[in-house]
Amino acid sequence: MNIVLLGAPGAGKGTQADKLVDEFGTPHISTGDMLRAAVAAGTPLGQKAKSFMDAGELVPDEVIIGLVSERLNEPDTEAGFILDGFPRTTAQAVALDAELSKLSRPLDTALLIDVDPEVIIARLTNRRICRECGHIGTAADEKCPVCGGEMYQRDDDNEATVRNRLDVYEKQTSPLIDYYRGCDRLVTIDGDRDPNVVYADVKEALHLV
Ligand code: AP5
Ligand code: MG
Repeated sequence: MNIVLLGAPGAGKGTQADKLVDEFGTPHISTGDMLRAAVAAGTPLGQKAKSFMDAGELVPDEVIIGLVSERLNEPDTEAGFILDGFPRTTAQAVALDAELSKLSRPLDTALLIDVDPEVIIARLTNRRICRECGHIGTAADEKCPVCGGEMYQRDDDNEATVRNRLDVYEKQTSPLIDYYRGCDRLVTIDGDRDPNVVYADVKEALHLV
């Protein structure tokens, strides 16, 4: 499977990607996770990205495109990949098509997980993530239900930043819905249902059942 998970912040891209990884072992390429790891490690990339991320703005295209191209050239992605949070601009989508064409590995599907913005604000201000294993949970999880690790809140999951992330999504990323619809690669799934019900639709859309 060569797929892109599209959707607003908090739509459930990471949640659905984790389920696919658990069941199929396909490499999960999350640009947000890559950037957060770079920020935590204090690398030059992390230093450059931090202020954009904290404000809920997009990191410049040239930084992200290089990062993803490099990752797609690693051999584990030859059998498939799940892109999460990339592309996010038309320039990124065009660059992705060019890179995949060079690698002779065309994209199968852009899967849009569709959720109403008001649902998203509640979800994101309530999200907690495990410091040890990266499990995505909620404020109801005092400890990680998977490994017992400490749960933390992302710096960009406060209401003001979430609202800006939603605006940025609307202006800069939602045009990609038409981009992928135009080349017949778009599949839309209602993401405002139980995560396992959403996952059943994800697998059906990807012809995995
Ligand atoms: P990134 O990390 O990609 O964040 P995002 O797109 O804002 O998406 P999220 O990770 O917040 O949400 P998600 O859809 O993964 O939802 P999740 O499954 O966690 O990017 C962060 C920042 O990095 C960007 O703002 C930007 O600065 C930078 N960046 C990253 N990529 C970039 C790029 N390509 N170009 C430029 N800049 C880039 O779920 C959310 C919550 O909801 C969880 O608590 C979960 O338990 C819950 N939940 C999930 N599904 C359901 C469901 N079906 N029902 C109820 N609750 C659910
Ligand atoms: Mg995510």
